[in-house]
Amino acid sequence: MKGVSEDGFVFFTNYNSDKAAALAQNDRSSMLFPWNELDRQVSVSGKVEKIAESESDAYFAARPRASQIAAWTSQQSQPIASRGALEAQYQATLERFDGSDVPRPPHWGGFRLVPERIEFWQGGEDRLHDRFVYQYTNGWIRSRLQP
Ligand SMILES: Cc1cc2nc3c(=O)[nH]c(=O)nc-3n(C[C@H](O)[C@H](O)[C@H](O)COP(=O)(O)O)c2cc1C
Repeated sequence: MKGVSEDGFVFFTNYNSDKAAALAQNDRSSMLFPWNELDRQVSVSGKVEKIAESESDAYFAARPRASQIAAWTSQQSQPIASRGALEAQYQATLERFDGSDVPRPPHWGGFRLVPERIEFWQGGEDRLHDRFVYQYTNGWIRSRLQP
């Protein structure tokens, strides 16, 4: 996750990846944020949408050059014959953009999960965990769930 605001939770990825294909079929998704050391987790679910191209451009421009090159290099989620083949692709992309800025690839950008449900889970003794869920209908309604 690279951003959170009142609008939702933003992550960046390859728009041709397996997850992007899955989201094109079904825009409902969830995110899980576990903190094992704290015995705590937050789970979020809702609808996922692509963010504005200008937002993706701004974030891409702020990334390290190596990450920008890698975004052009990798056909995320597709098989490749070897590590050597991947490195050769990376090298070719380095040469392609030698001496120039790396533009955002059209197949790379952000998604925003707009939450409809957010659950806070805190582990407790004797498995009496605390669970609070916020569910959005006309406003946010909070309730406590049994563990
Ligand atoms: C710490 C960590 C951070 C990651 N960050 C991203 C990310 O920002 N974007 C991304 O596409 N994948 C990220 N990944 C990899 C994804 O978990 C996933 O393997 C990848 O997106 C391909 O998934 P897919 O083939 O289901 O589309 C990250 C993995 C780890 C372990």
